[in-house]
Amino acid sequence: MAGTSVRAASSNRVVSLEDPAALGSADRGGMLELIAGLGGQLLRGFDIAASTPALPSGEGVRAVVLSGMGGSGIGGDLVRAAFGSAVTTPVVVSKGYDLPGFCDHDTLVVATSFSGNTEETVAAYRRAVATGCRVITVSTGGELAALSEADGTPHIPVPSDVTLPRAALGYLGAAVVAILGAVGLLAEARSHVEAAAHALDRLAARVGAGEPVGSNEAKAVAAWIGDRVPVVWGSLGVAEAAAMRWKTQFNENAKTPAFASALPELDHNEIEGWSEGSGEGFAVIALRHEGEHPRVAARVEATRELLAGSGLSFREVRAGEEASPLATAFSLVMLGDFVSTYVALARGVDPSPIPVLSALKDRLRG
Ligand code: F6R
Repeated sequence: MAGTSVRAASSNRVVSLEDPAALGSADRGGMLELIAGLGGQLLRGFDIAASTPALPSGEGVRAVVLSGMGGSGIGGDLVRAAFGSAVTTPVVVSKGYDLPGFCDHDTLVVATSFSGNTEETVAAYRRAVATGCRVITVSTGGELAALSEADGTPHIPVPSDVTLPRAALGYLGAAVVAILGAVGLLAEARSHVEAAAHALDRLAARVGAGEPVGSNEAKAVAAWIGDRVPVVWGSLGVAEAAAMRWKTQFNENAKTPAFASALPELDHNEIEGWSEGSGEGFAVIALRHEGEHPRVAARVEATRELLAGSGLSFREVRAGEEASPLATAFSLVMLGDFVSTYVALARGVDPSPIPVLSALKDRLRG
């Protein structure tokens, strides 16, 4: 069966999380190293984007739309969540072929696609140009870069030293921060990126492959998840965006089903679904941070108590007290990136290849 052979391409040897050398050789695409470099990527990505010539003016901009799919879209979610209160102009994330109906010449559209060839983002870009929006493209090349050149729209080049979109999140996310800064919608943009980069470098040293399970939170969480299906909860804002990143990284790195939902919303529906015994085989990770709404703590505790009979296992992951909401968002992301990669390696899965996703793209291309 075609599906079976696609999957077989990613099978690997199960390795112990206590064995850094074995982790290194099983991680054939070098995912752990790429994750550890997230802070450096943010800084480099910011500087490349901020020095791009002829970025459009922010004068009179009434809305910003961040268009992108998958690994090229999540940077928009994270940046929007981090600066939701600092940027007073509405920022909307759009994941699809179209753009919101309000888009016009006072809308700034950022079309981000690592490859530059994602059909949804290319279609959204074309729509933005046809509608007269102010448009910026972000990609390593591909159709988006070619269209930008032909249309005379500013293009931010993404370095191609990284070959996987989800591992280029630092470049892609920082480009959005730099754009918001350059067009005058976000003050002190580079200092937010610097704070995040410092926090990430410190975190990477604590949760990298060389640190043993006993003192490495990412390995400990991965070991605790084991063979169970991860369910990630995050409170509205940066933790909600980070929870979505955790889910998608479990999907793509560990090749496992995973689910994400947001507090307080999940208290209004999902909790009814975790009926007696239905949580066996699932592991809930609640992402917590200092900036969350004060009622979230009470909700997490009450929710956990009420779901005791479901058989769900719970664990919390807490971001440190960071200097910027961007640092909080990306610290939660880095932890999840490491956790999902450790889960992959511990299950004998090669984190880097995404054969099913690639097969789907090939099939749609005909
Ligand atoms: C992540 C990944 C996908 C892509 C998505 C869009 O590693 O492979 O989530 O990011 O399919 O493709 P690009 O990023 O090229 O626009």
